Amino acid sequence: MNFVKIDGIEYNLTDLEKDCWVRLLNGSLKGRDPFHTPTLANIGKKGINMRTVVLRKVNTIEKLLTFHTDIRSGKWQELQNNNSVSWLFYDAASKFQIRLAGKATLHHNDIIANESWQKTSANSRKTYMTTLAPSLQSETPTSGLLSAFEAVNPTIEETEIYKKNFAVVVTQIYWMEWLWLSSKGHRRASFNYAENNKFEASWLVP
Ligand SMILES: Cc1cc2nc3c(=O)[nH]c(=O)nc-3n(C[C@H](O)[C@H](O)[C@H](O)COP(=O)(O)O)c2cc1C
Repeated sequence: MNFVKIDGIEYNLTDLEKDCWVRLLNGSLKGRDPFHTPTLANIGKKGINMRTVVLRKVNTIEKLLTFHTDIRSGKWQELQNNNSVSWLFYDAASKFQIRLAGKATLHHNDIIANESWQKTSANSRKTYMTTLAPSLQSETPTSGLLSAFEAVNPTIEETEIYKKNFAVVVTQIYWMEWLWLSSKGHRRASFNYAENNKFEASWLVP
């Protein structure tokens, strides 16, 4: 038996790999999906750094996962020094964990960043509108925003000067690992992507 049966459906390694990418894609499209807000890890000056990010885009063919960030953030600087990243997703309802490893490409003030900025609402752009850089110390518990923008959401025109802080990080995935928790025994599989995005797959002991 070279398949796993989940909710009555049989998945071989090829089916499973496809299913993982469909779940990732859904995560990027649906705000309430458990895969919408994964953990992203990278290597910083003091060691491993992790944080929650919003999964903005998934390319299931090219195996790309994308998030947005502020170029003044710690991770932007860190990724310039070392572009290795690791993603962690968990869906408690389906009991699926997906871990992925990739290499990041940084986009600021280019076509990719500009296109994404155009699609970002004025309200979402508030993230990039702090007057001082993220992570700077403050004497008060501050939002970092001008007080006018705390009370009232900015207009799209008011957000434009903050575009300089906005960036897109595209990560090229070269490894994915799936784990499914089941009372009848857990199941686990690993996928490695070659240059042409063909994958080598194998079942693992959980
Ligand atoms: C639900 C949620 C979603 C977040 N999404 C993002 C995001 O898409 N991009 C981002 O840079 N930070 C995001 N953050 C903030 C990061 O988790 C982190 O606090 C911030 O980016 C600073 O990280 P750094 O100092 O490692 O750069 C999010 C936080 C939460 C709780």
